[in-house]
Amino acid sequence: MDTYAQLLDQLAESGALGEEWRGAFERAPRSAFVPDAVWTPDGDAPNGYRRVTRTAEPDTWWAQVHSNAVVVTQLDDGAADGPGVATSSASMPSLVAEMLGHLDVRPGQSVLDVGTGTGWTSGLLCARLGDESVSTVEVDSAVCAQAATHLAAAGFSPAIHLGDGLLGRPGGVQFDRIHSTAAVQRVPAAWIEQTKPGGVIVTPWGTPYANAALLRLEVGEAGQESHGRFVGNVSFMWARAQRPHTAVPAGVAESLGASRMDPDLAVENVNAAFAIGLCVPGVRYSHTWDEADPTGTYRMVLSDDAGSWASARLQRWDDKGSVHQAGPRRIWDEITVARLRWLEEGKPGLTDFGLTVAADGTQTIWLGGPGPLGSE
Ligand SMILES: C[S@@+](CC[C@H](N)C(=O)[O-])C[C@H]1O[C@@H](n2cnc3c(N)ncnc32)[C@H](O)[C@@H]1O
Repeated sequence: MDTYAQLLDQLAESGALGEEWRGAFERAPRSAFVPDAVWTPDGDAPNGYRRVTRTAEPDTWWAQVHSNAVVVTQLDDGAADGPGVATSSASMPSLVAEMLGHLDVRPGQSVLDVGTGTGWTSGLLCARLGDESVSTVEVDSAVCAQAATHLAAAGFSPAIHLGDGLLGRPGGVQFDRIHSTAAVQRVPAAWIEQTKPGGVIVTPWGTPYANAALLRLEVGEAGQESHGRFVGNVSFMWARAQRPHTAVPAGVAESLGASRMDPDLAVENVNAAFAIGLCVPGVRYSHTWDEADPTGTYRMVLSDDAGSWASARLQRWDDKGSVHQAGPRRIWDEITVARLRWLEEGKPGLTDFGLTVAADGTQTIWLGGPGPLGSE
């Protein structure tokens, strides 16, 4: 991708960028917000990333900024020598455009933007709605300060708050829209309280198993339910306080068995993974290679945050002893049943599901339309 104009043409042609947003994307170019130093994936680097600066490698920097790809701007919450987990970024432009489209915002409406990051989304909202209509909140002080600098230099002045965006913007203000680029497992009560009845919340939503969906929630009258659908497949960084537990390495097996299912099918595609994740609360997985394993096979390792874990060998999975399970739950059995349920439901897609938030904050997932899971 050579220029920003070409990127915008590509987004418009793909349908991601609506005509009503094109002018804002032109007035708030991505390059005005991406910091001079970014992180580019590098398989040879110990943490998987190489630092690229605008001055030392201008061609690489500009190519990243004008590509339809995420640009990682912070690792490990800014800690030096961390494992290389991306914790802030300029999101993928097509997703930025799609999310803003789902927000369905009109001139005169107010928006709270959670997860300021580089400030690009806030800048786009200011360009469309005016500075006075936009508030943004970022949890990381260094990221927040940098975004404030870039927003001011680009000529935008939204209300910028440093703090936990899961609490919204304290102060009793209600917004027409809340837009988040930090993924949640539970829609925070503060977001419902701070959205006007009939207003809309757009946020990445996921389970520890599948951080995979974009939720568009329509907020009900005070004291009533809010309903929404999953409208797309996205994967965003978790909101800090809702990050899932770190995967637990497999320990001493309590129970050994054979698998009744090829473990590859547990993450066959995003729709299967999303549906399975809904049925196995708190479970996350990783794939590991055990060099000490004389059979030299890959395993899928699963755990929850209450002491249960399982692992399934990816080859010869139906041999006795290929599955290990320990703790109060039999996680591999749960995964197998969850996938069967997905098959029985006719392999629903992620966008066939939706979510209701009750007045007390309880979340209920449904399939087809609001009601118990599985109802139409
Ligand atoms: C994907 S980045 C945001 C991208 C941003 N919208 C942009 O245009 O560059 C996610 C951001 O959410 C922030 N974040 C994570 N948890 C948060 C929280 N609880 N409250 C506010 N910000 C949070 C991260 O520090 C990170 O900067």
